[in-house]
Parts: sequence; structure tokens; C-alpha cells
Amino acid sequence: MLLLPLLLLAVIVPGGDNEDALQGPTSFHLIQISTFANSTWTQNQGSGWLDDLQIHGWDSDSGTAIFLKPWSKGNFSDEEVAELEELFRVYFIEFTRGVQDIVSEFQFEYPFVIQGIAGCELHSGKAIQSFLRAGFEGLDFVSIENHSCVPEPEGGSEAQWFCVFIAQYQGILAIIDRLLSKTCPRYLLGVLDAGKAELHRQVKPEAWLSSGPTPGPGRLLLVCHVSGFYPKPVRVMWMRGEQEQPGTQRGNIILNADWTWYLRVTLDVEAGEAAGLSCRVKHSSLGDQDIILYWGHPTYIGLIFVAIIVPSLILLICLALWFWRRWSYQTVL
Ligand SMILES: *[C@@H]1O[C@H](CO)[C@@H](O)[C@H](O)[C@H]1NC(C)=O
Ligand SMILES: *[C@@H]1O[C@H](CO)[C@@H](O)[C@H](O)[C@H]1NC(C)=O
Ligand SMILES: *[C@@H]1O[C@H](CO)[C@@H](O)[C@H](O)[C@H]1NC(C)=O
Repeated sequence: MLLLPLLLLAVIVPGGDNEDALQGPTSFHLIQISTFANSTWTQNQGSGWLDDLQIHGWDSDSGTAIFLKPWSKGNFSDEEVAELEELFRVYFIEFTRGVQDIVSEFQFEYPFVIQGIAGCELHSGKAIQSFLRAGFEGLDFVSIENHSCVPEPEGGSEAQWFCVFIAQYQGILAIIDRLLSKTCPRYLLGVLDAGKAELHRQVKPEAWLSSGPTPGPGRLLLVCHVSGFYPKPVRVMWMRGEQEQPGTQRGNIILNADWTWYLRVTLDVEAGEAAGLSCRVKHSSLGDQDIILYWGHPTYIGLIFVAIIVPSLILLICLALWFWRRWSYQTVL
């Protein structure tokens, strides 16, 4: 008997997901992807992100930032934004030249890709932590921690060499340090505030069912599609009654062009066991009104229920009331 209240509690009390939903994004980071094809051809891609939502692009031909949202500048003035753009323009040029010099001096081989991620994250209690990590050919290379360069084990002796090399350039390290520990936290708080209407909006999902490619003879792949929801945390389950089906497979959550999310959740079942299964969607925008779709019950069955049963019930209740009142009047008289 103890189990039942606990189960009910699990259904009623929203999971940890929903807490995140109310918080919205908590970090800002820049991503750099630099492709060096040969000694003359290099491509630098840059972008700015709030968690997994992109708010800046970088036009490497003109060396200017692309602001993807009206509030992407946060609370920074146009002058400060222009200064930062200039800094990144010079950085990309110097970075490219520096890498090309190192390659020709040490006879490294083209092609290769260098990736960088740098930013800051808000932790509970308002502490903001900054980070910078660089990768080489998809492996961790170096990171900056506590104002100093730390070689990653995957980076091998090259990473150790790089940290010794960069230590000669205290000027560059000081700029990086200022960007990470001062500019980023100030920007993060400003942009989270400037974008709050969009970052904290609630958009309800739509859901529909379909069958996927047959997993085998006599089997069915039930697919539950959930799309158009925001924020990202969502819980989608295949259920039989109140019983969550353990074989439920969750896909990756994919971003739609309009900054809403899409998810598909599948279940592989014996064809004969599909009836009575339902897909249940919980999302912060729905409150406690979960979406529940039944397999093999086209929605018109639901409509027939509403169209016939409900009016009949109301009619029955009215009739009963009418008879009851007539009867009570008669007994009074
Ligand atoms: C360098 O790489 C680019 C892009 O792959 C290619 O178009 C170009 O021909 C290459 N140049 C040389 C000198 O190999
Ligand atoms: C960085 O500094 C903090 C406290 O100042 C310390 O807890 C942490 O261990 C340090 N990390 C490294 C890698 O030195
Ligand atoms: C922007 O907002 C942050 C956080 O509220 C604040 O520290 C900063 O002074 C504001 N102005 C600028 C120009 O950064």
C-alpha cells in the first residue's frame, strides 16, 4: 500500500528537468573551428552560444560579428561591441599566421582542424566560472585553468610544448584572462537579462504517432513525435496504463529553425501487443495536463466520446434532476 502514494507522488511532483526549465540557459561560450587545408587555405568559423542556442555568428570575410537575435549584444554599448569585434578580427588573423609559422618551422603536416571553446557559466549561488579548452584533430589539447595553460593527456608532448611556448606571451595570456574573468561574466548576466522574454518563454508541444520501419516479422516500431516545444526539458514515455514501458528508446533532441525543439521516442513491440499502449508527454508548458495519445485509437474515437457520451450524460443528469424536483414538489404538495 505504501507503494501507491509513492507512485502518485512520482507522477504529481515534477522531476528535476522542470527546475532547469524555469532557470533557462546558464552559460555563454564562443566556439572556434579552424580548418587548415594547406599552407595557403584556412577557414575560421566562429559562433556564440547560450547553452545550446546560437546567438552570434562570425563573418570571416569581413571580420564582423553576426547578431542573430535583437538582444544578442546583451547590455554592452555599441562601442564596447565594436572593440570586441576588432579584438576577434585581429585574433583570427594572428592566430592563423601563428599556426602557419609553427607548422612551417616544425614541419607539421596539413590538413588539420583546431577547435576552441571559451566562456563562462553561472553556478548556483551566483558564482561564475570561466573555461577555455582547445582541441587538435578532435582530441583535447590544452585548457586554461587558474590563469595558466594546462596540457591535456591526450595532447601528448605537443601540448606540453605548446604550454611552454605560450608562456612567453604573457600579454596574450593577460588579455585572455581579462576576457574570461571580467568581460564574460558581465556579458553573461547582461545577455540573460536582455533575452529573458525569449529565453524563458513557454511553448506547448504538438505530438503525433506513426509507425517506423518494421523491426522484424510480426513486430511494430511505434514512433511518438513531439515537436515545437520550448524550453528543452521534456519527458516522453510509452506507457501501458500507468506503467512506463522499459523498452522506450529516446532519440536526440533536435532544434527547429524557430528555436523550438523536436524529439522522437520509439518502442519496438509484438504487433499483437500494440493496442492499449499510449505515448505520454510531460512538459513545463503543459502544467499537469500531460498529452496522452493512444496507439490504434484515431483521435475521432475521442471526439465521438465527447460528441455522444458527454451530451447524453448531461441529458441524463438533467432528466434525473427534473424527475427529482417533480417528485419532491409532489411529496410537498
Ligand atoms: C589548398 O586547399 C584548398 C581547399 O581544399 C584547395 O582548393 C587548394 O587548391 C589547395 N591549394 C594548394 C596549393 O594545394
Ligand atoms: C584552481 O584554483 C582553485 C581555487 O582557487 C582550486 O580549488 C583548484 O584546484 C585549482 N585548479 C587547478 C587545476 O589548479
Ligand atoms: C550589464 O549587466 C551586468 C550584470 O547585471 C553589469 O555588471 C554591467 O555593469 C552592465 N553593464 C555593462 C555595460 O556591462
